[in-house]
Amino acid sequence: MHSIQLHENIFRAKAITMIECERELFTKLHPISMQLGNKSKEHYLYGVPMHWMNDWGTPSPLFVRQAHGAQFICADNLSYVDFCLGDTGSMFGHSPEPVAQAIEQQARRGFTTMLPDMLAPQVGAALAEQFGMPCWQLTTTATDANRFVLRWARAITGRKKLLVFDGCYHGTVDDTMVDVEDDQTVSRASLLGQTFDLGQFTVAVDFNDLAAVERELSTGEFACLLTEPALTNCGMVPALPGFIAGLRVLTQRYGTLLILDETHTISSGRGGWARNHDIKTDFIVVGKPIAGGLPAAAYGFSNEIAVKMQSAKDEAPAGHSGIGTTLSGNMMTLAAINATLTQVATLEAYSHMFKLADTLENGLNEKLQHYSLPWCITRLGARLELQFCKSAPLNAKEARASQDEELEHAIHLFLLNRGVLLTPFHNMMLVCPSTSEEDISRLLEVFGECLNKLTG
Ligand SMILES: Cc1ncc(COP(=O)(O)O)c(C=O)c1O
Repeated sequence: MHSIQLHENIFRAKAITMIECERELFTKLHPISMQLGNKSKEHYLYGVPMHWMNDWGTPSPLFVRQAHGAQFICADNLSYVDFCLGDTGSMFGHSPEPVAQAIEQQARRGFTTMLPDMLAPQVGAALAEQFGMPCWQLTTTATDANRFVLRWARAITGRKKLLVFDGCYHGTVDDTMVDVEDDQTVSRASLLGQTFDLGQFTVAVDFNDLAAVERELSTGEFACLLTEPALTNCGMVPALPGFIAGLRVLTQRYGTLLILDETHTISSGRGGWARNHDIKTDFIVVGKPIAGGLPAAAYGFSNEIAVKMQSAKDEAPAGHSGIGTTLSGNMMTLAAINATLTQVATLEAYSHMFKLADTLENGLNEKLQHYSLPWCITRLGARLELQFCKSAPLNAKEARASQDEELEHAIHLFLLNRGVLLTPFHNMMLVCPSTSEEDISRLLEVFGECLNKLTG
């Protein structure tokens, strides 16, 4: 039988059976998580501190006892090799020792004062050294960083419109929560409590389509173009060679600011994707792992942009700028960022991650070949994604067409019940500095067993 047909017919039934069996097995293996899940329902919506923690498709959330390096132990004392790593928050491993020490020491010296800690100049220098941008502002989340950069961009340019790509995700920033329907940009239907039309000031076009970008930018109405260097939230969509460089040329030509959100693409090399590909942007956003997993993010910009930001602020009437939150840049996060950037996110750490990611990529591809599956592994440095298409998608439409919720779910649950955690929904795998050859072998072994079951 042709592989695609196999994927459409036999896999579906097998995936559904697998999901049922694995949910039963989860219940047997995790009595304490099941109990905690019931208890949590007393005080939490959906029984979890954040409602999406319940979206993993397990009969109860998997409660964590402790996490260290590339491993964690669940409430039922089972251990897992973690390739989800907090969806990038723990990309440098759980509780990296230098960060744990910095936090311990800082914990006796104060958490937050609304004043800059003495470490501030050092942290600014570490951000500049690592990401190649001279000027910085700190925020608590990457969502906030993106939100604030959009404000600055509009204030600097005096323009209102924002260009993004179909399938983008930049955190819960309202302006970016759009979809394309019948060639029109509209508010994403799933948004709760959304009262105004997001398509009024935001336009989304296809990733990897420079002509569409030029068509929009040439109107002269766009304050900025916000994108990841590769889309990582609708499956993984890498940029075609020259695409991001093309965006730089077009944004400069039409007076639009280019913002690269490197929150996930920080996996592609020390300093992020843009630095490693010699692209000069107006702003970059970094978040998630920069404080070793503590809530922290930052946005960087050029000296020229800094001058424009200052004059926009100086010329604005006195009062709230709409930019900032009370706990951003607090003493605790400064200590954690400093330790992460100077002692954890090192070239040696990245080179270990890439070496093991090579082994993982080769091993996964061998398994796909062995079972004649028309799927691919899309790679961005230490980040790998299993996609149900023959080669990496060109844009979000292609990525969506390749998605298969049941298959993803079946594979994810099968691995989880055998002590290997992938990121749910899109089966993403991250390799951290503490991941070992044995961890990779374990993933490959269990993935092979899973494919054997699905195809057998
Ligand atoms: C590319 C990108 N930017 C920003 C964010 C927002 O990060 P946070 O949820 O930490 O605010 C995410 C979250 O997944 C992301 O994928």
